[in-house]
Amino acid sequence: MADNILNNSAGEQAKCLPRHIAIILDGNGRWAKKRGLPRNAGHLAGSETFRNIATYCKEIGVEYLTVYAFSTENWKRSTEEVSGIMRLLDKYLHEAIRDMRKKNIRMKVFGDISRLSPKLQELIHETDEISQQIEGFQANICINYGGRAEIVRAAQLYANDVAEGRAEGELTEEKLEGYMYSAGIPDPDLLIRPGGEYRISNFLLWQCAYSEFYFTDVLWPDFTPEELDKAIASYNSRDRRFGGVKT
Ligand code: IPE
Ligand code: IPE
Ligand code: MG
Repeated sequence: MADNILNNSAGEQAKCLPRHIAIILDGNGRWAKKRGLPRNAGHLAGSETFRNIATYCKEIGVEYLTVYAFSTENWKRSTEEVSGIMRLLDKYLHEAIRDMRKKNIRMKVFGDISRLSPKLQELIHETDEISQQIEGFQANICINYGGRAEIVRAAQLYANDVAEGRAEGELTEEKLEGYMYSAGIPDPDLLIRPGGEYRISNFLLWQCAYSEFYFTDVLWPDFTPEELDKAIASYNSRDRRFGGVKT
């Protein structure tokens, strides 16, 4: 087996592996620009990086990988760029449907998919159905996703349940969590943002309350398993106190 964060030739063991890693896939456009290529070439390269990193996460034993692929704000981009991203998504979903069982990968889409084409919605439903027959590693792909929109949606779903008698009593954090796209999934331990920006851009606002953040200037298409190892090593050097005091 190749060296990785859990198994290296020096026989050193990592202290602890994050169960859930979240990544903001940023820097595709700049990667393409640097090479004199159209922005969509960057998205294509970024989608290949995603395949590699998802495979690597599964290999080393991460349980959940959540990636931010298209935000509720990304519709502001040119029609050409948006339709290029949607075409890549179509391609990726077809591949996933073909390979998920064989690779034992569950997949979930977080976001309002009603704004996507009926064809994409159908493919997403198909990946949902296949996922129910699989156990193990889960990749969550955020598409037309916004953290604020997710919280508003959860509140609306809860209000509907109250109005229709399916929910009662006081609203608690635990109850509201059950209405998030990520219901039942542990919060991300580690949030990685490549691409050199130091902001959250409306990603997982609810779930990242106590995540460890890792920023790097590496552009997403250049991100490698070694970069992920660095992020995990940094995570391992942190002291997670969750508001308490270290004893
Ligand atoms: C991230 O890369 C992908 C999406 C937001 C869809 P960008 O396209 O934002 O790349 P930069 O930030 O312009 O380099
Ligand atoms: C965040 O990247 C969204 C995704 C990666 C999908 P952006 O490039 O859209 O974020 P900003 O505009 O730099 O905040
Ligand atoms: Mg960007």
